Amino acid sequence: MAKSAEFDTILVVDFGAQYAQLIARRVREAKVYSEIVPREGLAERIRAVRPKGVIFSGGPKSVHVEGAPSVDNAVFDTGVPILGICYGAQLMARDLGGSVSRTGTGEYGRTEIDVTSSSPLFRELPGQQVVWMSHGDSIVEVPPGFDVTATTAAVPVAAFEDRERGFFGVQFHPEVAHSERGQEILKRFLFDVCGAQPTWTMVSVIEQSIAEIRARVGGDRIICGLSGGVDSAVAAALVHKAVGEQLTCVFVDHGLMRRDEPEKVVDTFRNRMGFNLVEAKSADRFLERLAGVTDPEAKRKIIGETFIRVFEEVAHDASLGPDGEALDTAPFLVQGTLYPDIIESGTKDAAKIKSHHNVGGLPDDMKFELVEPLRDLFKDEVRVVGEELGLPEEIVWRQPFPGPGLAVRIIGDVTHERLEILRHADAVLLEEVRTAGLYRELWQSFAVLPAIKSVGVMGDERTYAYPIIIRAVTSDDAMTADWARLPYELLEKVSSRIINEVPGVNRVAYDISSKPPATIEWE
Ligand code: XMP
Repeated sequence: MAKSAEFDTILVVDFGAQYAQLIARRVREAKVYSEIVPREGLAERIRAVRPKGVIFSGGPKSVHVEGAPSVDNAVFDTGVPILGICYGAQLMARDLGGSVSRTGTGEYGRTEIDVTSSSPLFRELPGQQVVWMSHGDSIVEVPPGFDVTATTAAVPVAAFEDRERGFFGVQFHPEVAHSERGQEILKRFLFDVCGAQPTWTMVSVIEQSIAEIRARVGGDRIICGLSGGVDSAVAAALVHKAVGEQLTCVFVDHGLMRRDEPEKVVDTFRNRMGFNLVEAKSADRFLERLAGVTDPEAKRKIIGETFIRVFEEVAHDASLGPDGEALDTAPFLVQGTLYPDIIESGTKDAAKIKSHHNVGGLPDDMKFELVEPLRDLFKDEVRVVGEELGLPEEIVWRQPFPGPGLAVRIIGDVTHERLEILRHADAVLLEEVRTAGLYRELWQSFAVLPAIKSVGVMGDERTYAYPIIIRAVTSDDAMTADWARLPYELLEKVSSRIINEVPGVNRVAYDISSKPPATIEWE
């Protein structure tokens, strides 16, 4: 059943860029369910979903340029409260009869607003507060029936409203952390203006998902590919809670995992969580196929195909009836698809930079009924669900790891020997990052093995050996990333330990590139 039928819902209208996702996450942090929706067909959607309120997101364009996104005016006749943020506020001002112009006095970054009259949005909040602005155009005249409720030194309209009709606009971004009272402002809109109930909790989400999975799967078999990552682990744990023994998990060990990882996956899921787990130890098969392959996309393709073949063999066995007979119903397959995967594939045409999603993708001729228990959740919500379901911290908070594993962190040939060097260096790095208490705040931290050697000296001996490159980045969603300002002491310790402890390495370098223009992984 649609979540919007069960929970009070806020629709967040996407006007481009990444603004809508952050707003939707903040609304959910306030325990109100939110969905990101396109602007096309909005009025009909509002009538169908009957949300408690609508939020227009910011967007990268000016309302004046040709083709600037807009909404059908019927949206304003649906009787649902609307909060316009930045571009959304300007759109509302323009479409309801106010005016927006390029005054040449844009505001960017930290700005102080003055609340000039009482407003439900600012109830019991300070009259002066710091907010985050990012606009070139300004609202110079509010529409008829609207009052200005806040200004700044540079612009006359920082917030405006028509309380009667439930229309509110803010020029600033309440969703970003730099707006000191932003979340409180959003909550006032959700609870005081829209009258939403804060019932979106992960405990209620788990209950609802379990009921749905039981209804869908009935007494049939269900299969789940486990990678050791958080998404597949949480999806499997939900399904296990719903249908227990009917679930078989398949773990393909492609031999490209980090040190001790396969053992940990088996120990966690089979021994500690009590799942039916089939482990397909296939390192040799993958390595044979990768021999001599150096092109990054060719590696991904080979790994993707080999993965599918292995999975298919194992899943075939796991989907047979009790006496080994073929069943006439297609087995169910769990996938750890998250909400952002769906939003992206629905509304954006991201250029293909790397063929990520091919890995682990299944061929068309394999017939499965898909069960995607996380498809309404953001990553941070998935982690909370994982914690609630009793998954160990180490899985719930694991940094993302690419499907093709260390193969895309070894430039050039992937061999046993080179894998061992990288695994060893990576283990040292991760141990030190954890000891420094930085593991969780880094999006990813890992070692890369390039295909060059350099000269060094150890004792009285000249060496000619590999360098190791350290990559550590901060990011919210992997679309953009910045190199982490790791403390020098940590870098020093990592460097000296790797050079001293890892045979075959005589140098350590730190990657200080952001994404874009670099990517997070080296291949
Ligand atoms: P890039 O390197 O494109 O990576 O900045 C963005 C995020 O995606 C992960 N990544 C992959 N994940 N299969 C995956 O499942 C892949 O082939 C792959 N390549 C990159 C990467 O670790 C980062 O989190």
